[in-house]
Amino acid sequence: MIKTLPKTYEDYVVNGWTRCENSKTDMGSNMCFFNISVFDLNTLLTENVDLILHSENVMKSIDEYMDSFISVLLIDKDGYILMEKKNKDALTDSDINLPVGGRFTERFNGNTAMSTSIVENKPICLAGEEHYCRVYYDYSTLSAPIYFNGEIIGLLAAIGRKSKDIKNTLGMMAAAAKAISIEYEADRTNKQIIEKNKCESAIVDTMTDGVLTVDKDGFVTFMNQVGAEILCVNRESSIGRHISDVVDFKPVILDVLKTGKGYIDKEFLITKKTGEKIHFIKTAVPIKDEKGNIVTVVDTFRKIKRVNKLLNELNGAYANFNFSDIIGSSIKIQDCLSKAKAASGSVSNVLITGESGTGKELVAHSIHSSSDRNNQPFVSINCGAIPRELLESELFGYEPGSFTGASNKGRMGKFELADGGTIFLDEIGEMPMDMQVKLLRVIQDRKLTRIGGNHVFDLDVRVIAATNKDLFEQCKNGRFREDLYYRINVLHVNLPPLRERKEDITELIHYFINKLNVKMNKDIMDISQAAMAKIMSYSWPGNIRELENTVERAVNLCNGGIIGEEDIFIENLREESHTYSTDAEGRHKNMDIVSENEIEPLEDVEKRAIERALNISGGNITITANLLKVTRNTIYNKMKKYNLSGE
Ligand SMILES: Nc1ncnc2c1ncn2[C@@H]1O[C@H](COP(=O)(O)OP(=O)(O)OP(=O)(O)O)[C@@H](O)[C@H]1O
Ligand SMILES: [Mg+2]
Repeated sequence: MIKTLPKTYEDYVVNGWTRCENSKTDMGSNMCFFNISVFDLNTLLTENVDLILHSENVMKSIDEYMDSFISVLLIDKDGYILMEKKNKDALTDSDINLPVGGRFTERFNGNTAMSTSIVENKPICLAGEEHYCRVYYDYSTLSAPIYFNGEIIGLLAAIGRKSKDIKNTLGMMAAAAKAISIEYEADRTNKQIIEKNKCESAIVDTMTDGVLTVDKDGFVTFMNQVGAEILCVNRESSIGRHISDVVDFKPVILDVLKTGKGYIDKEFLITKKTGEKIHFIKTAVPIKDEKGNIVTVVDTFRKIKRVNKLLNELNGAYANFNFSDIIGSSIKIQDCLSKAKAASGSVSNVLITGESGTGKELVAHSIHSSSDRNNQPFVSINCGAIPRELLESELFGYEPGSFTGASNKGRMGKFELADGGTIFLDEIGEMPMDMQVKLLRVIQDRKLTRIGGNHVFDLDVRVIAATNKDLFEQCKNGRFREDLYYRINVLHVNLPPLRERKEDITELIHYFINKLNVKMNKDIMDISQAAMAKIMSYSWPGNIRELENTVERAVNLCNGGIIGEEDIFIENLREESHTYSTDAEGRHKNMDIVSENEIEPLEDVEKRAIERALNISGGNITITANLLKVTRNTIYNKMKKYNLSGE
């Protein structure tokens, strides 16, 4: 039925009727619609608990206006009644039934001030016949939206007898709704700040860097646990104190307050009054107010060891092999490995010697992997591969601007990076003499100064060196410093060449075939006897590396499941073979290729053997005698003969 228009109505009234007509609202319906389960009612109230709490006071304070109303209501954004305040003096009216959980919807109850204020987004008052449904004709409804962040979250509404005066209370209703909005908003913002603070301090606490803030006068305003640990101070008692009273060294953060300038990743080495050194990298950020005055300085810092650990992890500076990767059951290699294993249990420096490709690097890694430093860095440097001008800075690092071409930030050297772990000085025989002096000093003093620097860093680095040169010979020729030689040659592991342990070849070949099968997705099962004989007839000057390459080539060439003679391709085989003679069964009689000028007089060999044993034993005659399997007397006599000194 179309409602007739006896007088001019406001647009929002007419629009409300149109909506009701469109949704075919029954004009004879109730004031509100109640069809909510206990469960849904509980959910509704729980979801709106903040709104209810913040509205309670305001609803109480409406008391003085209460005479104009029958009921004051708090309604949620969907039209559900959350709270009702009844005027006890008002006449009970059989039409008025507005329970909590009841709902105003235009579809069922027609237009009301409540539904209209949501649509119009403003406070509304509807009187009598301005309502679509007849049940409201004797009443007025008022409603003012409650906002949060610009969105309607609820309504403060009232219902009263239809009268002219009631419209005058709309301003009060709007003010009250605004008061609720403000209180709600303030509380929410507060809660958000608390959450944010909680979240920020959780972030700062999980950071692995130390964080410290000071105010403009240098008083500590914040410190996280890591920061307290790095600075060796108590976190709680530090806050509120002046930074100079917190740490027992001159706090560098004070310079930032003085200069107003921050920095990123600057390195500091600080000596505490106790003599203990703290070496760290830090970033300081001054925070200024709109006038440009510093209000706080945020300082983040991390110990250099942690930085190094990260650098080493990124650079792959860790040991990749262990003893189980070293193949070979021959007595020679097993002897050698037992020495290497003994070396991993010791902290002394180790010298690994052996021809090229005999596995020196593999053994160096394995010694570190089995040592109690295995969680610490393993830093390798090939002394022969780095230009001599760069070797010093590579090893010891440099301070900014210490030489042309140096980066303006300075750099740490390999020794510093290896702190706590092992440095592997490969091809040490190639090290220039002047560098040998410097190296000796560092190894001896366990202290280091960067090029162009004056800080002295304490070092805890284990040295493993390797060479394919005869360093002792080089010492005699003046190409290697004897003092350095003795320093690094505390423990000596000499790797036998492959030609001296041909019994390991079969095992090595099978090991490489298995490895390559996986790598190249092949399925090679074995190697023929003829192929094996070809391999055995060669002297392997390139040792295991050359053998590995030969097997790799064969695996590539091999079409079936078994490597044949034709798959074995050894470049120098023809030139080589003349140095061998074979017996009737085709076995090689002399495995070693020895040219005439390599033969040494027996006495020289004996002298060298004694010298080496003395080195290994650290001059201990009993150990020397045991090593050489002779009596102590023999050693004394020979030492006299060759003019050698012992302990
Ligand atoms: N006993 C072994 N078992 C398995 N593989 C080995 C063995 N010895 C060496 N290898 C392998 O041989 C190759 C050469 O070894 P490594 O690099 O350790 O030799 P090196 O003595 O350091 O040689 P160079 O003097 O030329 O530097 C590597 O691929 C290594 O994995
Ligand atoms: Mg090597």
